[in-house]
Amino acid sequence: MTTATLDAAQSGTFLLGGDLPVHRLGFGAMRITGKGIWGPPADHAESLAVLRRTIELGVNLIDTAEAYGPYVSEELIAEALYPYPKGLVIATKGGLERTGPDQWPVNGRPERLRQGVEGSLRRLRLDRIDLWQLHRVDPNVPEDDQFGAIREFQREGKIHHVGLSEVTVEQIERARKFFDVVSVQNRYNLADLEWENVLDYCDAENIAFIPWFPLATGKLAEKGGPLARIAERHHATPAQIALAWLLKRSSVMLPIPGTSKVKHLEENIGAAGISLTHEEFMEIGG
Ligand SMILES: NC(=O)c1ccc[n+]([C@@H]2O[C@H](COP(=O)([O-])OP(=O)(O)OC[C@H]3O[C@@H](n4cnc5c(N)ncnc54)[C@H](OP(=O)(O)O)[C@@H]3O)[C@@H](O)[C@H]2O)c1
Repeated sequence: MTTATLDAAQSGTFLLGGDLPVHRLGFGAMRITGKGIWGPPADHAESLAVLRRTIELGVNLIDTAEAYGPYVSEELIAEALYPYPKGLVIATKGGLERTGPDQWPVNGRPERLRQGVEGSLRRLRLDRIDLWQLHRVDPNVPEDDQFGAIREFQREGKIHHVGLSEVTVEQIERARKFFDVVSVQNRYNLADLEWENVLDYCDAENIAFIPWFPLATGKLAEKGGPLARIAERHHATPAQIALAWLLKRSSVMLPIPGTSKVKHLEENIGAAGISLTHEEFMEIGG
């Protein structure tokens, strides 16, 4: 396993929203909560240790959401890291309710979005959220009402930049009439390249693309498969190669692998130092 030099900076830097430089390999803070992303984590001390280790490893982009726990992930981030180191970007989200483990009903009513922003500011102990992402566009609320509310939060200075999650190119374009969309967070990994067209759009427009569930590899990682073979060549794990592949796929790609364990965090950050050849990239999923 490659962990020789552990430094997220090796993944390169992306200028988020034109003014926030972040190392491209970040951290997703969804898995530091309880099972079903519900309630407190099984090992509170380990969750805090994971968060503190992210900073030591050069991570300066942490993704979270009001809905993770709910509230638990944001509270743990503040507990572990406040006062925050200079340059740390905490990206959070709103727009989902939680009604139980693994249940995520959408709620994009403007007053609920506002409540979400206010709550995130309080829990994260921030005056302004660097990147606030709409977790889902609510199909039952007029889009203009949701986007209009977000524009207000930005005008009020409660949020700096805006991102979207699980959206089509058409939705991004409609949202851009209200505010600059600086990031898009859609599911994307070697086993699921469905959002390729959104990635290409973000690439062309210099919008950050934050692939969630980045570690899924499906059958590719099977013994004797291309991922396993290439991993062996790099003295790496298939998970590390999957992350290295994402980093090579596009310069706007900001993977945020998540884990509840320091050991897995270190392994994941080890991917920042792996360079795949063009042939390896093509063999895996090019
Ligand atoms: N926008 C959205 O709708 C949305 C949806 C889902 C997630 N997200 C964001 O995306 C982030 C990443 O997504 P994700 O957590 O679903 O997927 P992921 O990061 O691809 O995978 C996380 C899973 O893999 C395990 N894992 C992590 N590193 C590992 C390693 N080195 N070896 C073996 N297992 C490992 C974790 O368990 P252990 O805890 O045991 O390591 C966890 O079960 C989340 O944290 C969240 O911030 C966003």
